[in-house]
Amino acid sequence: MGYQIAIDGPAGAGKSTIAKLVAKRKGFIYVDTGAMYRGLAIHFLNKGISPEDTEGIKKACEDAEITIGYEDGQQQIYLNGENVTGRLREETVGNMASQSSGIAEVRKKLLDLQRELARKENVVMDGRDIGTSVLPDANVKIFLTASVDTRARRRYNELLEKGEACDYEKIAEDIKERDRRDMTREQSPLRQAEDAYLVDSSDMTIDEVVDKIESVCQK
Ligand code: DC
Repeated sequence: MGYQIAIDGPAGAGKSTIAKLVAKRKGFIYVDTGAMYRGLAIHFLNKGISPEDTEGIKKACEDAEITIGYEDGQQQIYLNGENVTGRLREETVGNMASQSSGIAEVRKKLLDLQRELARKENVVMDGRDIGTSVLPDANVKIFLTASVDTRARRRYNELLEKGEACDYEKIAEDIKERDRRDMTREQSPLRQAEDAYLVDSSDMTIDEVVDKIESVCQK
């Protein structure tokens, strides 16, 4: 069994940025489980299924295979053998992933893959239910959060830098809606595990957060 660091938290809390840096410092592999949900979402979209079509999504799970690999240390997602990493961040994909990840069949499809990776390697794994459900015995569990305002501001600045039009109020509303969906769903809702260490990054720099997590690992 490898050493397992589980990082959960709401959308936009900076989990992937932080998890990648922690993995680099410790020489562990980084596993982005949200990307796996996004990979499956591409399968549903390719089949023309709508996010509300729960039965269609369940059925489509039967012929989807998600695998992961690493290129230059970057996680790649393969859907039925095809590398779909370039499409993962599309808005429609995020939306489909947010809806379809509430379905038990979808979660079941990815659970074994996530556990298998953590069994073979030392991992930093991020998601919504890693500490509560995927790796309940993880060596270190972190619940990384930040205020809605902070998360919306970060996203707004990111989009501005890319030169994309954006509306702060709309971003904040989207974040609240994603939180609501992630926290109130029946299957593996987002919540802090009892033995998770809470890190609120609202007033912290990236380096401070990484240092904090490293210090928790040494306890
Ligand atoms: O972190 P992200 O935005 O890339 O995740 C995409 C979607 O997948 C998000 O709506 C929540 C869901 N997800 C989940 O339900 N469980 C996980 N362990 C990771 C992500």
